[in-house]
Amino acid sequence: MKRIVILISGRGSNMEALLKARLPCEVAAVISNKADAAGLAIAQQHGIATAAISHKDFANREAFDAALAQEIDRHHPDLVVLAGFMRILTAGFVNHYAGRLINIHPSLLPAYTGVDTHERALQDGVKIHGCTVHFVTPDLDHGPIIIQAAVPVRQDDTPETLSARVLREEHRVFPQAVRWLCNGNVRLNAQGRVETDSLEQRGTTLISPGLD
Ligand code: GRF
Repeated sequence: MKRIVILISGRGSNMEALLKARLPCEVAAVISNKADAAGLAIAQQHGIATAAISHKDFANREAFDAALAQEIDRHHPDLVVLAGFMRILTAGFVNHYAGRLINIHPSLLPAYTGVDTHERALQDGVKIHGCTVHFVTPDLDHGPIIIQAAVPVRQDDTPETLSARVLREEHRVFPQAVRWLCNGNVRLNAQGRVETDSLEQRGTTLISPGLD
């Protein structure tokens, strides 16, 4: 069975969705860069090993990333999953996990990389917003895309209502992506593109629910 390590920084709802999804893998550890991340307590309630490594204890990104990689590699993961991990990672770290590092981002990439995605989407008046699970490359929020969910944007949406609609879909697409990866149905090919095995699966790499 494949082993995964999940990195978080905060509330951990995406991590919890993964833990509840009965995925065909062993969650070897949940690691946070913040000791007070609420998600750590949730992981512990599920009997998962946890660790906190504060980026503030290190002089620079390289030193933090080296310590983080050392902690991750103790668990020999096949897959490293960024579930609301709010640190920018160095190219050295990303390349070390090439093809086995994925992230969930709350926008339809390549639109709205970075932070405050819901506020910016509302400001622009886009009619479709969503979330993306992608392989991580050194180019922030630009890696090859595995699955996306697109949600409608309402005229009366606030960042909070839009965020809640997107988050509900995050909790669907993230477990799906990890399941595919653990089953070996999805991989990054030599050209850096995502390959999927079955036609049926290709039809589900976009989830597009309407309004309730
Ligand atoms: C999610 O919206 C995720 O897409 C983004 O940060 C948020 C983390 O939420 N990267 P949670 O900690 O998983 O609840």
